[in-house]
Amino acid sequence: MVKICCIGAGYVGGPTMAMIALKCPDIEVVVVDISKPRIAAWNSDELPIYEPGLDEVVKKCRGKNLFFSTEVEKHVAEADIVFVSVNTPTKTRGLGAGKAADLTYWESAARMIADVSKSDKIVVEKSTVPVKTAEAIEKILTHNNKGINFQILSNPEFLAEGTAIEDLEKPDRVLIGGRTTPEGQKAVAALKAVYAHWVPEDRIITTNLWSAELSKLAANAFLAQRISSINAMSALCESTGADVSEVAYAVGKDSRIGPKFLNASVGFGGSCFQKDILNLVYICECNGLPEVAHYWKQVVSINDYQKTRFVKRVVSSMFNTVSGKKIAILGFAFKKDTGDTRETPAIDVCHGLLGDKAQLSIYDPQVTEDQIKRDLAMNKFDWDHPQHLQPQSPTAFKQVSVVWDAYEACKDAHGICIITEWDEFKKLDYQKLYDNMQKPAFLFDGRNVLNVEEMRKIGFVVYSIGKPLDPWVKDLQVSI
Ligand code: NAD
Ligand code: UGA
Repeated sequence: MVKICCIGAGYVGGPTMAMIALKCPDIEVVVVDISKPRIAAWNSDELPIYEPGLDEVVKKCRGKNLFFSTEVEKHVAEADIVFVSVNTPTKTRGLGAGKAADLTYWESAARMIADVSKSDKIVVEKSTVPVKTAEAIEKILTHNNKGINFQILSNPEFLAEGTAIEDLEKPDRVLIGGRTTPEGQKAVAALKAVYAHWVPEDRIITTNLWSAELSKLAANAFLAQRISSINAMSALCESTGADVSEVAYAVGKDSRIGPKFLNASVGFGGSCFQKDILNLVYICECNGLPEVAHYWKQVVSINDYQKTRFVKRVVSSMFNTVSGKKIAILGFAFKKDTGDTRETPAIDVCHGLLGDKAQLSIYDPQVTEDQIKRDLAMNKFDWDHPQHLQPQSPTAFKQVSVVWDAYEACKDAHGICIITEWDEFKKLDYQKLYDNMQKPAFLFDGRNVLNVEEMRKIGFVVYSIGKPLDPWVKDLQVSI
């Protein structure tokens, strides 16, 4: 029986290994992590991450050929294939701070693999890493070589949160990069055989190591670029009376462009887009390509602009001040169908409104009060680093309350901001919400989930990203 061990039981390690275990009953899969609470949660009925369909997959295989353990060294030593799926955050200090990838966790995992291994192993980069990382890892693995053969492969993950199970079951492609030597190609074939249990052969792409590493950064940069492009258009739509949804539809009908990923929003969030683009920018700078670096940096700059622009619309529409006013924040996760709040635009919007002394009442169907308060207290980029950098206990904000119902959040509020596109926000009784709010009642739709005309008929003053401005909003705007 082939044995796989995956280091890192996070959003990637957990679901990807569960899918391998489900599709490959002849393979034993052990997911290991240094975090005891995380492993305990994977072994319980309350999994550490919320992902539609994940519970069923885990329940089918756990205890049969899927195991979660904190015995990191033991399982690494026993494995034939070791996936490394640890976090690769943005550096917060030192050379490249605020841009470069921090490979501390990756390096310590690689050193541990070198120390405990007694048999040949294929080591698979699952984490997103800077191009050429495999070279550094290879040096670490072979430095104390005890006659053991390590083959390193790059196998970046393309799943998106909220649709992880679907993405893993029917991936657009699986990418495997390896050395072109006979040993390298043998390792590529071995990993290909794992995926071939359920992925059609023509969807398994093999490349050299550097192409695989760079393709992952490039794919995320292209995806984020589409969002920044439509968000940049949304600002122009508001100034000209065009409707961004109509523009996106018309543009997306061109088969060369395609309709996906053209939803204007308050800004993209998530643990990877910003981190990976900043990393790409840093790599370009290090390779003497400042123009290329500047080009990609703009994708992040437009995203920051979009979040700031949203806050400015809220404040200027409400007579240029939100001081002491209750504002309901509907949604805190970075997208629907996940409880993940890493780099969520909600954090920047809340900070912006708190800076203007608003009273916030926050509701998200999947995010806890503890998590929201930690997020609001955290410094930029610290969320992806160990506990000592993070607030020990959630900070008590006098201006913030977290509630477990959208109606409660909006009661007596002056305004509502929709930050996450949860389906339930489309189905709320907006007449009831309006009746229980202060007047004039403002509605700021950061995800274009509501019918603007219907909301205006109820009586709301409405702002929806990239849609023709409400006459009220238009009259009161300072320049944005
Ligand atoms: P995560 O923070 O959810 O999980 C990483 C886990 O690794 C943590 O549980 C941590 O305790 C563990 N860990 C760190 N160092 C360790 C060590 N030395 N030994 C054992 N365990 C260790 O992160 P994630 O979201 O799963 O992302 C992991 C990687 O995958 C990142 O490089 C990310 O860029 C990439 N990625 C993420 C996604 C996504 O949707 N989240 C998608 C594609 C790629
Ligand atoms: C993204 C990529 O889609 C995955 O392929 C990749 O594996 C992953 O990053 C990663 O490397 O971590 P994810 O961040 O989970 O996945 O979710 P997305 O669906 O890409 O959404 C990212 C952000 O963009 C969300 O805040 C979402 O609301 C926003 N978005 C997305 C828009 O504002 N408009 C759109 O049209 C699409």
